[in-house]
Amino acid sequence: METSFQPKILAFLCNWCAYAGADLAGVSRLQYPPNIRVIRTMCSGRVDPLFVIRGLKEGFDGVFIGGCHIGDCHYQDGNVYTLRRMDMLANLLDISGIGRDRIRLVWASAAEAQPYADSVTDFTVSIAGLGPMAPDQHALALAGLARSLATTRLRWLVGIDRQVTERENVYHEKTDPVHFQRVIQEAVETEYQKAMIQEIISQAPATVRELSEKTGLPVYTVSLRLNDLERNSQAELSGHEGRSPLFAAAAAC
Ligand code: FES
Repeated sequence: METSFQPKILAFLCNWCAYAGADLAGVSRLQYPPNIRVIRTMCSGRVDPLFVIRGLKEGFDGVFIGGCHIGDCHYQDGNVYTLRRMDMLANLLDISGIGRDRIRLVWASAAEAQPYADSVTDFTVSIAGLGPMAPDQHALALAGLARSLATTRLRWLVGIDRQVTERENVYHEKTDPVHFQRVIQEAVETEYQKAMIQEIISQAPATVRELSEKTGLPVYTVSLRLNDLERNSQAELSGHEGRSPLFAAAAAC
Protein backbone atom coordinates (compact mmCIF):
# COMPACT_ATOMS: atom_id res chain seq x y z
CA MET A 1 0.00 0.00 0.00
CA GLU A 2 1.43 3.36 -0.98
CA THR A 3 1.53 5.99 1.73
CA SER A 4 2.38 9.59 0.99
CA PHE A 5 4.94 11.17 3.25
CA GLN A 6 3.45 13.41 5.96
CA PRO A 7 6.21 15.63 7.33
CA LYS A 8 6.46 16.33 11.02
CA ILE A 9 7.12 20.00 11.67
CA LEU A 10 8.18 21.62 14.92
CA ALA A 11 7.16 25.26 15.34
CA PHE A 12 8.46 27.79 17.84
CA LEU A 13 5.95 30.65 17.91
CA CYS A 14 6.31 33.94 19.72
CA ASN A 15 3.47 34.42 22.20
CA TRP A 16 2.77 38.02 21.13
CA CYS A 17 2.46 37.61 17.37
CA ALA A 18 2.81 34.32 15.47
CA TYR A 19 1.20 32.29 18.26
CA ALA A 20 -1.73 34.71 18.38
CA GLY A 21 -1.84 34.61 14.56
CA ALA A 22 -2.00 30.81 14.70
CA ASP A 23 -4.78 31.07 17.28
CA LEU A 24 -6.72 33.45 15.05
CA ALA A 25 -6.21 31.12 12.09
CA GLY A 26 -7.79 28.35 14.17
CA VAL A 27 -10.69 30.48 15.36
CA SER A 28 -11.25 31.70 11.80
CA ARG A 29 -11.25 28.07 10.62
CA LEU A 30 -8.55 28.70 8.04
CA GLN A 31 -7.39 25.54 6.33
CA TYR A 32 -3.73 24.61 6.68
CA PRO A 33 -1.83 21.33 7.16
CA PRO A 34 -2.08 19.79 10.65
CA ASN A 35 1.53 18.57 10.57
CA ILE A 36 2.79 21.22 12.91
CA ARG A 37 3.58 20.81 16.64
CA VAL A 38 3.79 24.15 18.42
CA ILE A 39 6.00 25.32 21.27
CA ARG A 40 5.07 28.79 22.51
CA THR A 41 7.95 31.09 23.49
CA MET A 42 7.77 34.60 24.93
CA CYS A 43 9.95 35.94 22.11
CA SER A 44 11.50 34.43 18.98
CA GLY A 45 14.81 35.56 20.52
CA ARG A 46 14.38 32.75 23.07
CA VAL A 47 14.84 30.16 20.33
CA ASP A 48 18.41 28.96 20.58
CA PRO A 49 19.65 27.35 17.33
CA LEU A 50 20.47 24.32 19.49
CA PHE A 51 16.70 23.83 20.01
CA VAL A 52 16.31 23.60 16.24
CA ILE A 53 19.05 20.99 15.94
CA ARG A 54 17.50 19.02 18.78
CA GLY A 55 14.18 19.07 16.96
CA LEU A 56 15.80 17.68 13.80
CA LYS A 57 17.69 15.07 15.85
CA GLU A 58 14.49 13.91 17.51
CA GLY A 59 12.72 13.19 14.27
CA PHE A 60 11.11 16.40 13.07
CA ASP A 61 11.53 16.93 9.34
CA GLY A 62 11.52 20.70 9.51
CA VAL A 63 11.53 23.53 12.06
CA PHE A 64 9.43 26.68 11.69
CA ILE A 65 10.13 29.80 13.75
CA GLY A 66 7.50 32.53 13.92
CA GLY A 67 8.23 35.94 15.43
CA CYS A 68 7.06 39.55 15.47
CA HIS A 69 7.89 41.82 12.56
CA ILE A 70 11.15 43.73 12.91
CA GLY A 71 10.42 46.79 15.02
CA ASP A 72 7.47 45.11 16.79
CA CYS A 73 9.33 42.83 19.21
CA HIS A 74 7.99 43.22 22.75
CA TYR A 75 11.53 42.98 24.04
CA GLN A 76 12.86 45.64 21.67
CA ASP A 77 15.17 43.70 19.41
CA GLY A 78 14.92 40.02 20.33
CA ASN A 79 13.88 39.25 16.78
CA VAL A 80 16.94 41.02 15.35
CA TYR A 81 19.08 38.55 17.27
CA THR A 82 16.84 35.73 16.04
CA LEU A 83 17.51 36.83 12.48
CA ARG A 84 21.27 36.77 12.99
CA ARG A 85 21.25 33.44 14.82
CA MET A 86 19.06 31.77 12.24
CA ASP A 87 21.25 33.16 9.48
CA MET A 88 24.24 31.50 11.10
CA LEU A 89 22.28 28.29 11.55
CA ALA A 90 21.20 28.35 7.89
CA ASN A 91 24.86 28.64 6.84
CA LEU A 92 25.80 25.74 9.09
CA LEU A 93 22.97 23.61 7.74
CA ASP A 94 24.19 24.28 4.20
CA ILE A 95 27.77 23.37 5.09
CA SER A 96 26.61 20.17 6.80
CA GLY A 97 24.71 19.01 3.72
CA ILE A 98 21.37 19.01 5.54
CA GLY A 99 20.44 22.29 3.90
CA ARG A 100 18.82 25.50 5.06
CA ASP A 101 15.48 24.49 3.54
CA ARG A 102 14.78 22.43 6.68
CA ILE A 103 14.19 25.61 8.65
CA ARG A 104 12.01 28.65 8.03
CA LEU A 105 11.85 31.95 9.86
CA VAL A 106 8.64 33.93 9.38
CA TRP A 107 7.42 37.22 10.81
CA ALA A 108 3.65 37.27 11.41
CA SER A 109 1.60 39.64 13.56
CA ALA A 110 -1.34 38.59 15.74
CA ALA A 111 -3.70 39.81 13.00
CA GLU A 112 -1.97 37.92 10.17
CA ALA A 113 -3.83 34.64 10.39
CA GLN A 114 -3.94 34.09 6.64
CA PRO A 115 -0.26 34.89 6.00
CA TYR A 116 0.59 32.56 8.90
CA ALA A 117 -1.56 29.75 7.47
CA ASP A 118 -0.04 30.34 4.01
CA SER A 119 3.51 30.20 5.41
CA VAL A 120 2.82 26.92 7.23
CA THR A 121 1.24 25.43 4.10
CA ASP A 122 4.14 26.51 1.93
CA PHE A 123 6.73 25.19 4.39
CA THR A 124 4.91 21.86 4.74
CA VAL A 125 4.83 21.42 0.97
CA SER A 126 8.51 22.31 0.75
CA ILE A 127 9.46 19.78 3.48
CA ALA A 128 7.28 17.11 1.88
CA GLY A 129 9.29 17.70 -1.31
CA LEU A 130 12.59 17.26 0.57
CA GLY A 131 11.47 13.97 2.14
CA PRO A 132 12.10 12.66 5.66
CA MET A 133 14.95 14.11 7.68
CA ALA A 134 16.42 10.65 8.55
CA PRO A 135 18.47 11.80 11.58
CA ASP A 136 20.41 8.51 11.68
CA GLN A 137 21.84 9.19 8.25
CA HIS A 138 22.92 12.65 9.39
CA ALA A 139 24.12 11.62 12.85
CA LEU A 140 27.66 13.00 12.45
CA ALA A 141 26.43 16.22 10.85
CA LEU A 142 23.84 16.80 13.59
CA ALA A 143 26.37 16.10 16.33
CA GLY A 144 28.83 18.46 14.62
CA LEU A 145 26.17 21.15 14.35
CA ALA A 146 25.24 20.86 18.01
CA ARG A 147 28.89 20.97 19.11
CA SER A 148 29.76 23.94 16.91
CA LEU A 149 26.67 25.93 17.92
CA ALA A 150 27.66 25.47 21.56
CA THR A 151 31.17 26.89 21.06
CA THR A 152 32.04 30.14 22.78
CA ARG A 153 33.48 31.47 19.51
CA LEU A 154 30.26 31.22 17.48
CA ARG A 155 28.02 32.33 20.33
CA TRP A 156 30.24 35.32 21.00
CA LEU A 157 30.48 36.31 17.33
CA VAL A 158 26.73 36.25 16.79
CA GLY A 159 26.18 38.12 20.06
CA ILE A 160 28.68 40.88 19.32
CA ASP A 161 27.56 41.37 15.69
CA ARG A 162 25.38 44.46 16.24
CA GLN A 163 27.75 46.00 18.71
CA VAL A 164 30.68 46.08 16.28
CA THR A 165 28.77 46.76 13.05
CA GLU A 166 26.29 49.37 14.33
CA ARG A 167 28.16 51.20 17.06
CA GLU A 168 31.54 52.89 17.06
CA ASN A 169 34.43 51.55 19.12
CA VAL A 170 36.68 53.78 21.27
CA TYR A 171 38.52 54.88 18.09
CA HIS A 172 35.20 55.97 16.51
CA GLU A 173 35.37 53.11 14.02
CA LYS A 174 32.66 50.69 12.95
CA THR A 175 33.34 47.26 11.50
CA ASP A 176 32.18 46.84 7.93
CA PRO A 177 29.15 44.46 8.06
CA VAL A 178 30.31 42.66 4.89
CA HIS A 179 33.72 42.06 6.43
CA PHE A 180 32.11 40.88 9.68
CA GLN A 181 29.92 38.43 7.75
CA ARG A 182 33.06 37.00 6.14
CA VAL A 183 34.60 36.58 9.60
CA ILE A 184 31.47 34.75 10.78
CA GLN A 185 31.39 32.55 7.68
CA GLU A 186 35.00 31.51 8.15
CA ALA A 187 34.38 30.82 11.86
CA VAL A 188 31.26 28.78 11.06
CA GLU A 189 33.20 26.55 8.65
CA THR A 190 36.20 25.94 10.88
CA GLU A 191 34.14 25.37 14.03
CA TYR A 192 31.90 22.87 12.22
CA GLN A 193 34.92 21.00 10.86
CA LYS A 194 36.55 20.86 14.30
CA ALA A 195 33.27 19.79 15.87
CA MET A 196 32.93 16.82 13.50
CA ILE A 197 36.51 15.74 14.25
CA GLN A 198 35.90 16.10 17.99
CA GLU A 199 32.76 14.04 17.71
CA ILE A 200 34.59 11.16 15.99
CA ILE A 201 37.62 11.11 18.28
CA SER A 202 35.39 11.35 21.35
CA GLN A 203 34.11 7.88 20.42
CA ALA A 204 37.40 6.22 19.42
CA PRO A 205 40.92 7.29 18.45
CA ALA A 206 41.37 7.84 14.72
CA THR A 207 44.11 8.57 12.19
CA VAL A 208 44.10 11.66 10.00
CA ARG A 209 43.14 9.53 7.00
CA GLU A 210 40.23 7.92 8.84
CA LEU A 211 39.04 11.34 9.94
CA SER A 212 39.30 12.57 6.38
CA GLU A 213 37.21 9.64 5.11
CA LYS A 214 34.53 10.02 7.77
CA THR A 215 34.20 13.81 7.53
CA GLY A 216 34.75 14.16 3.79
CA LEU A 217 37.37 16.86 4.52
CA PRO A 218 40.74 16.90 2.73
CA VAL A 219 43.62 15.37 4.73
CA TYR A 220 45.32 18.77 4.86
CA THR A 221 42.23 20.42 6.40
CA VAL A 222 41.91 17.64 8.98
CA SER A 223 45.57 18.17 9.95
CA LEU A 224 45.01 21.92 10.36
CA ARG A 225 41.93 21.44 12.52
CA LEU A 226 43.63 18.75 14.63
CA ASN A 227 46.49 21.14 15.18
CA ASP A 228 44.05 23.73 16.42
CA LEU A 229 42.31 21.21 18.69
CA GLU A 230 45.65 20.06 20.12
CA ARG A 231 46.71 23.66 20.79
CA ASN A 232 43.49 24.18 22.75
CA SER A 233 43.90 20.91 24.68
CA GLN A 234 40.86 19.38 22.99
CA ALA A 235 42.70 16.56 21.19
CA GLU A 236 45.90 14.64 21.85
CA LEU A 237 48.13 11.99 20.35
CA SER A 238 47.07 8.66 21.81
CA GLY A 239 49.27 6.12 20.01
CA HIS A 240 49.99 4.78 16.54
CA GLU A 241 48.31 2.50 14.05
CA GLY A 242 51.23 1.15 12.06
CA ARG A 243 53.13 4.33 11.25
CA SER A 244 50.08 6.61 11.42
CA PRO A 245 49.50 8.64 14.57
CA LEU A 246 46.17 8.15 16.33
CA PHE A 247 44.32 11.11 17.79
CA ALA A 248 41.86 11.01 20.67
CA ALA A 249 39.85 13.55 22.60
CA ALA A 250 42.01 15.09 25.32
CA ALA A 251 41.34 13.63 28.75
CA ALA A 252 40.16 17.00 30.08
CA CYS A 253 37.40 17.27 27.40
FE1 FES B 1 7.76 38.51 19.43
FE2 FES B 1 10.20 39.26 20.36
S1 FES B 1 8.30 39.45 21.32
S2 FES B 1 9.70 38.27 18.49
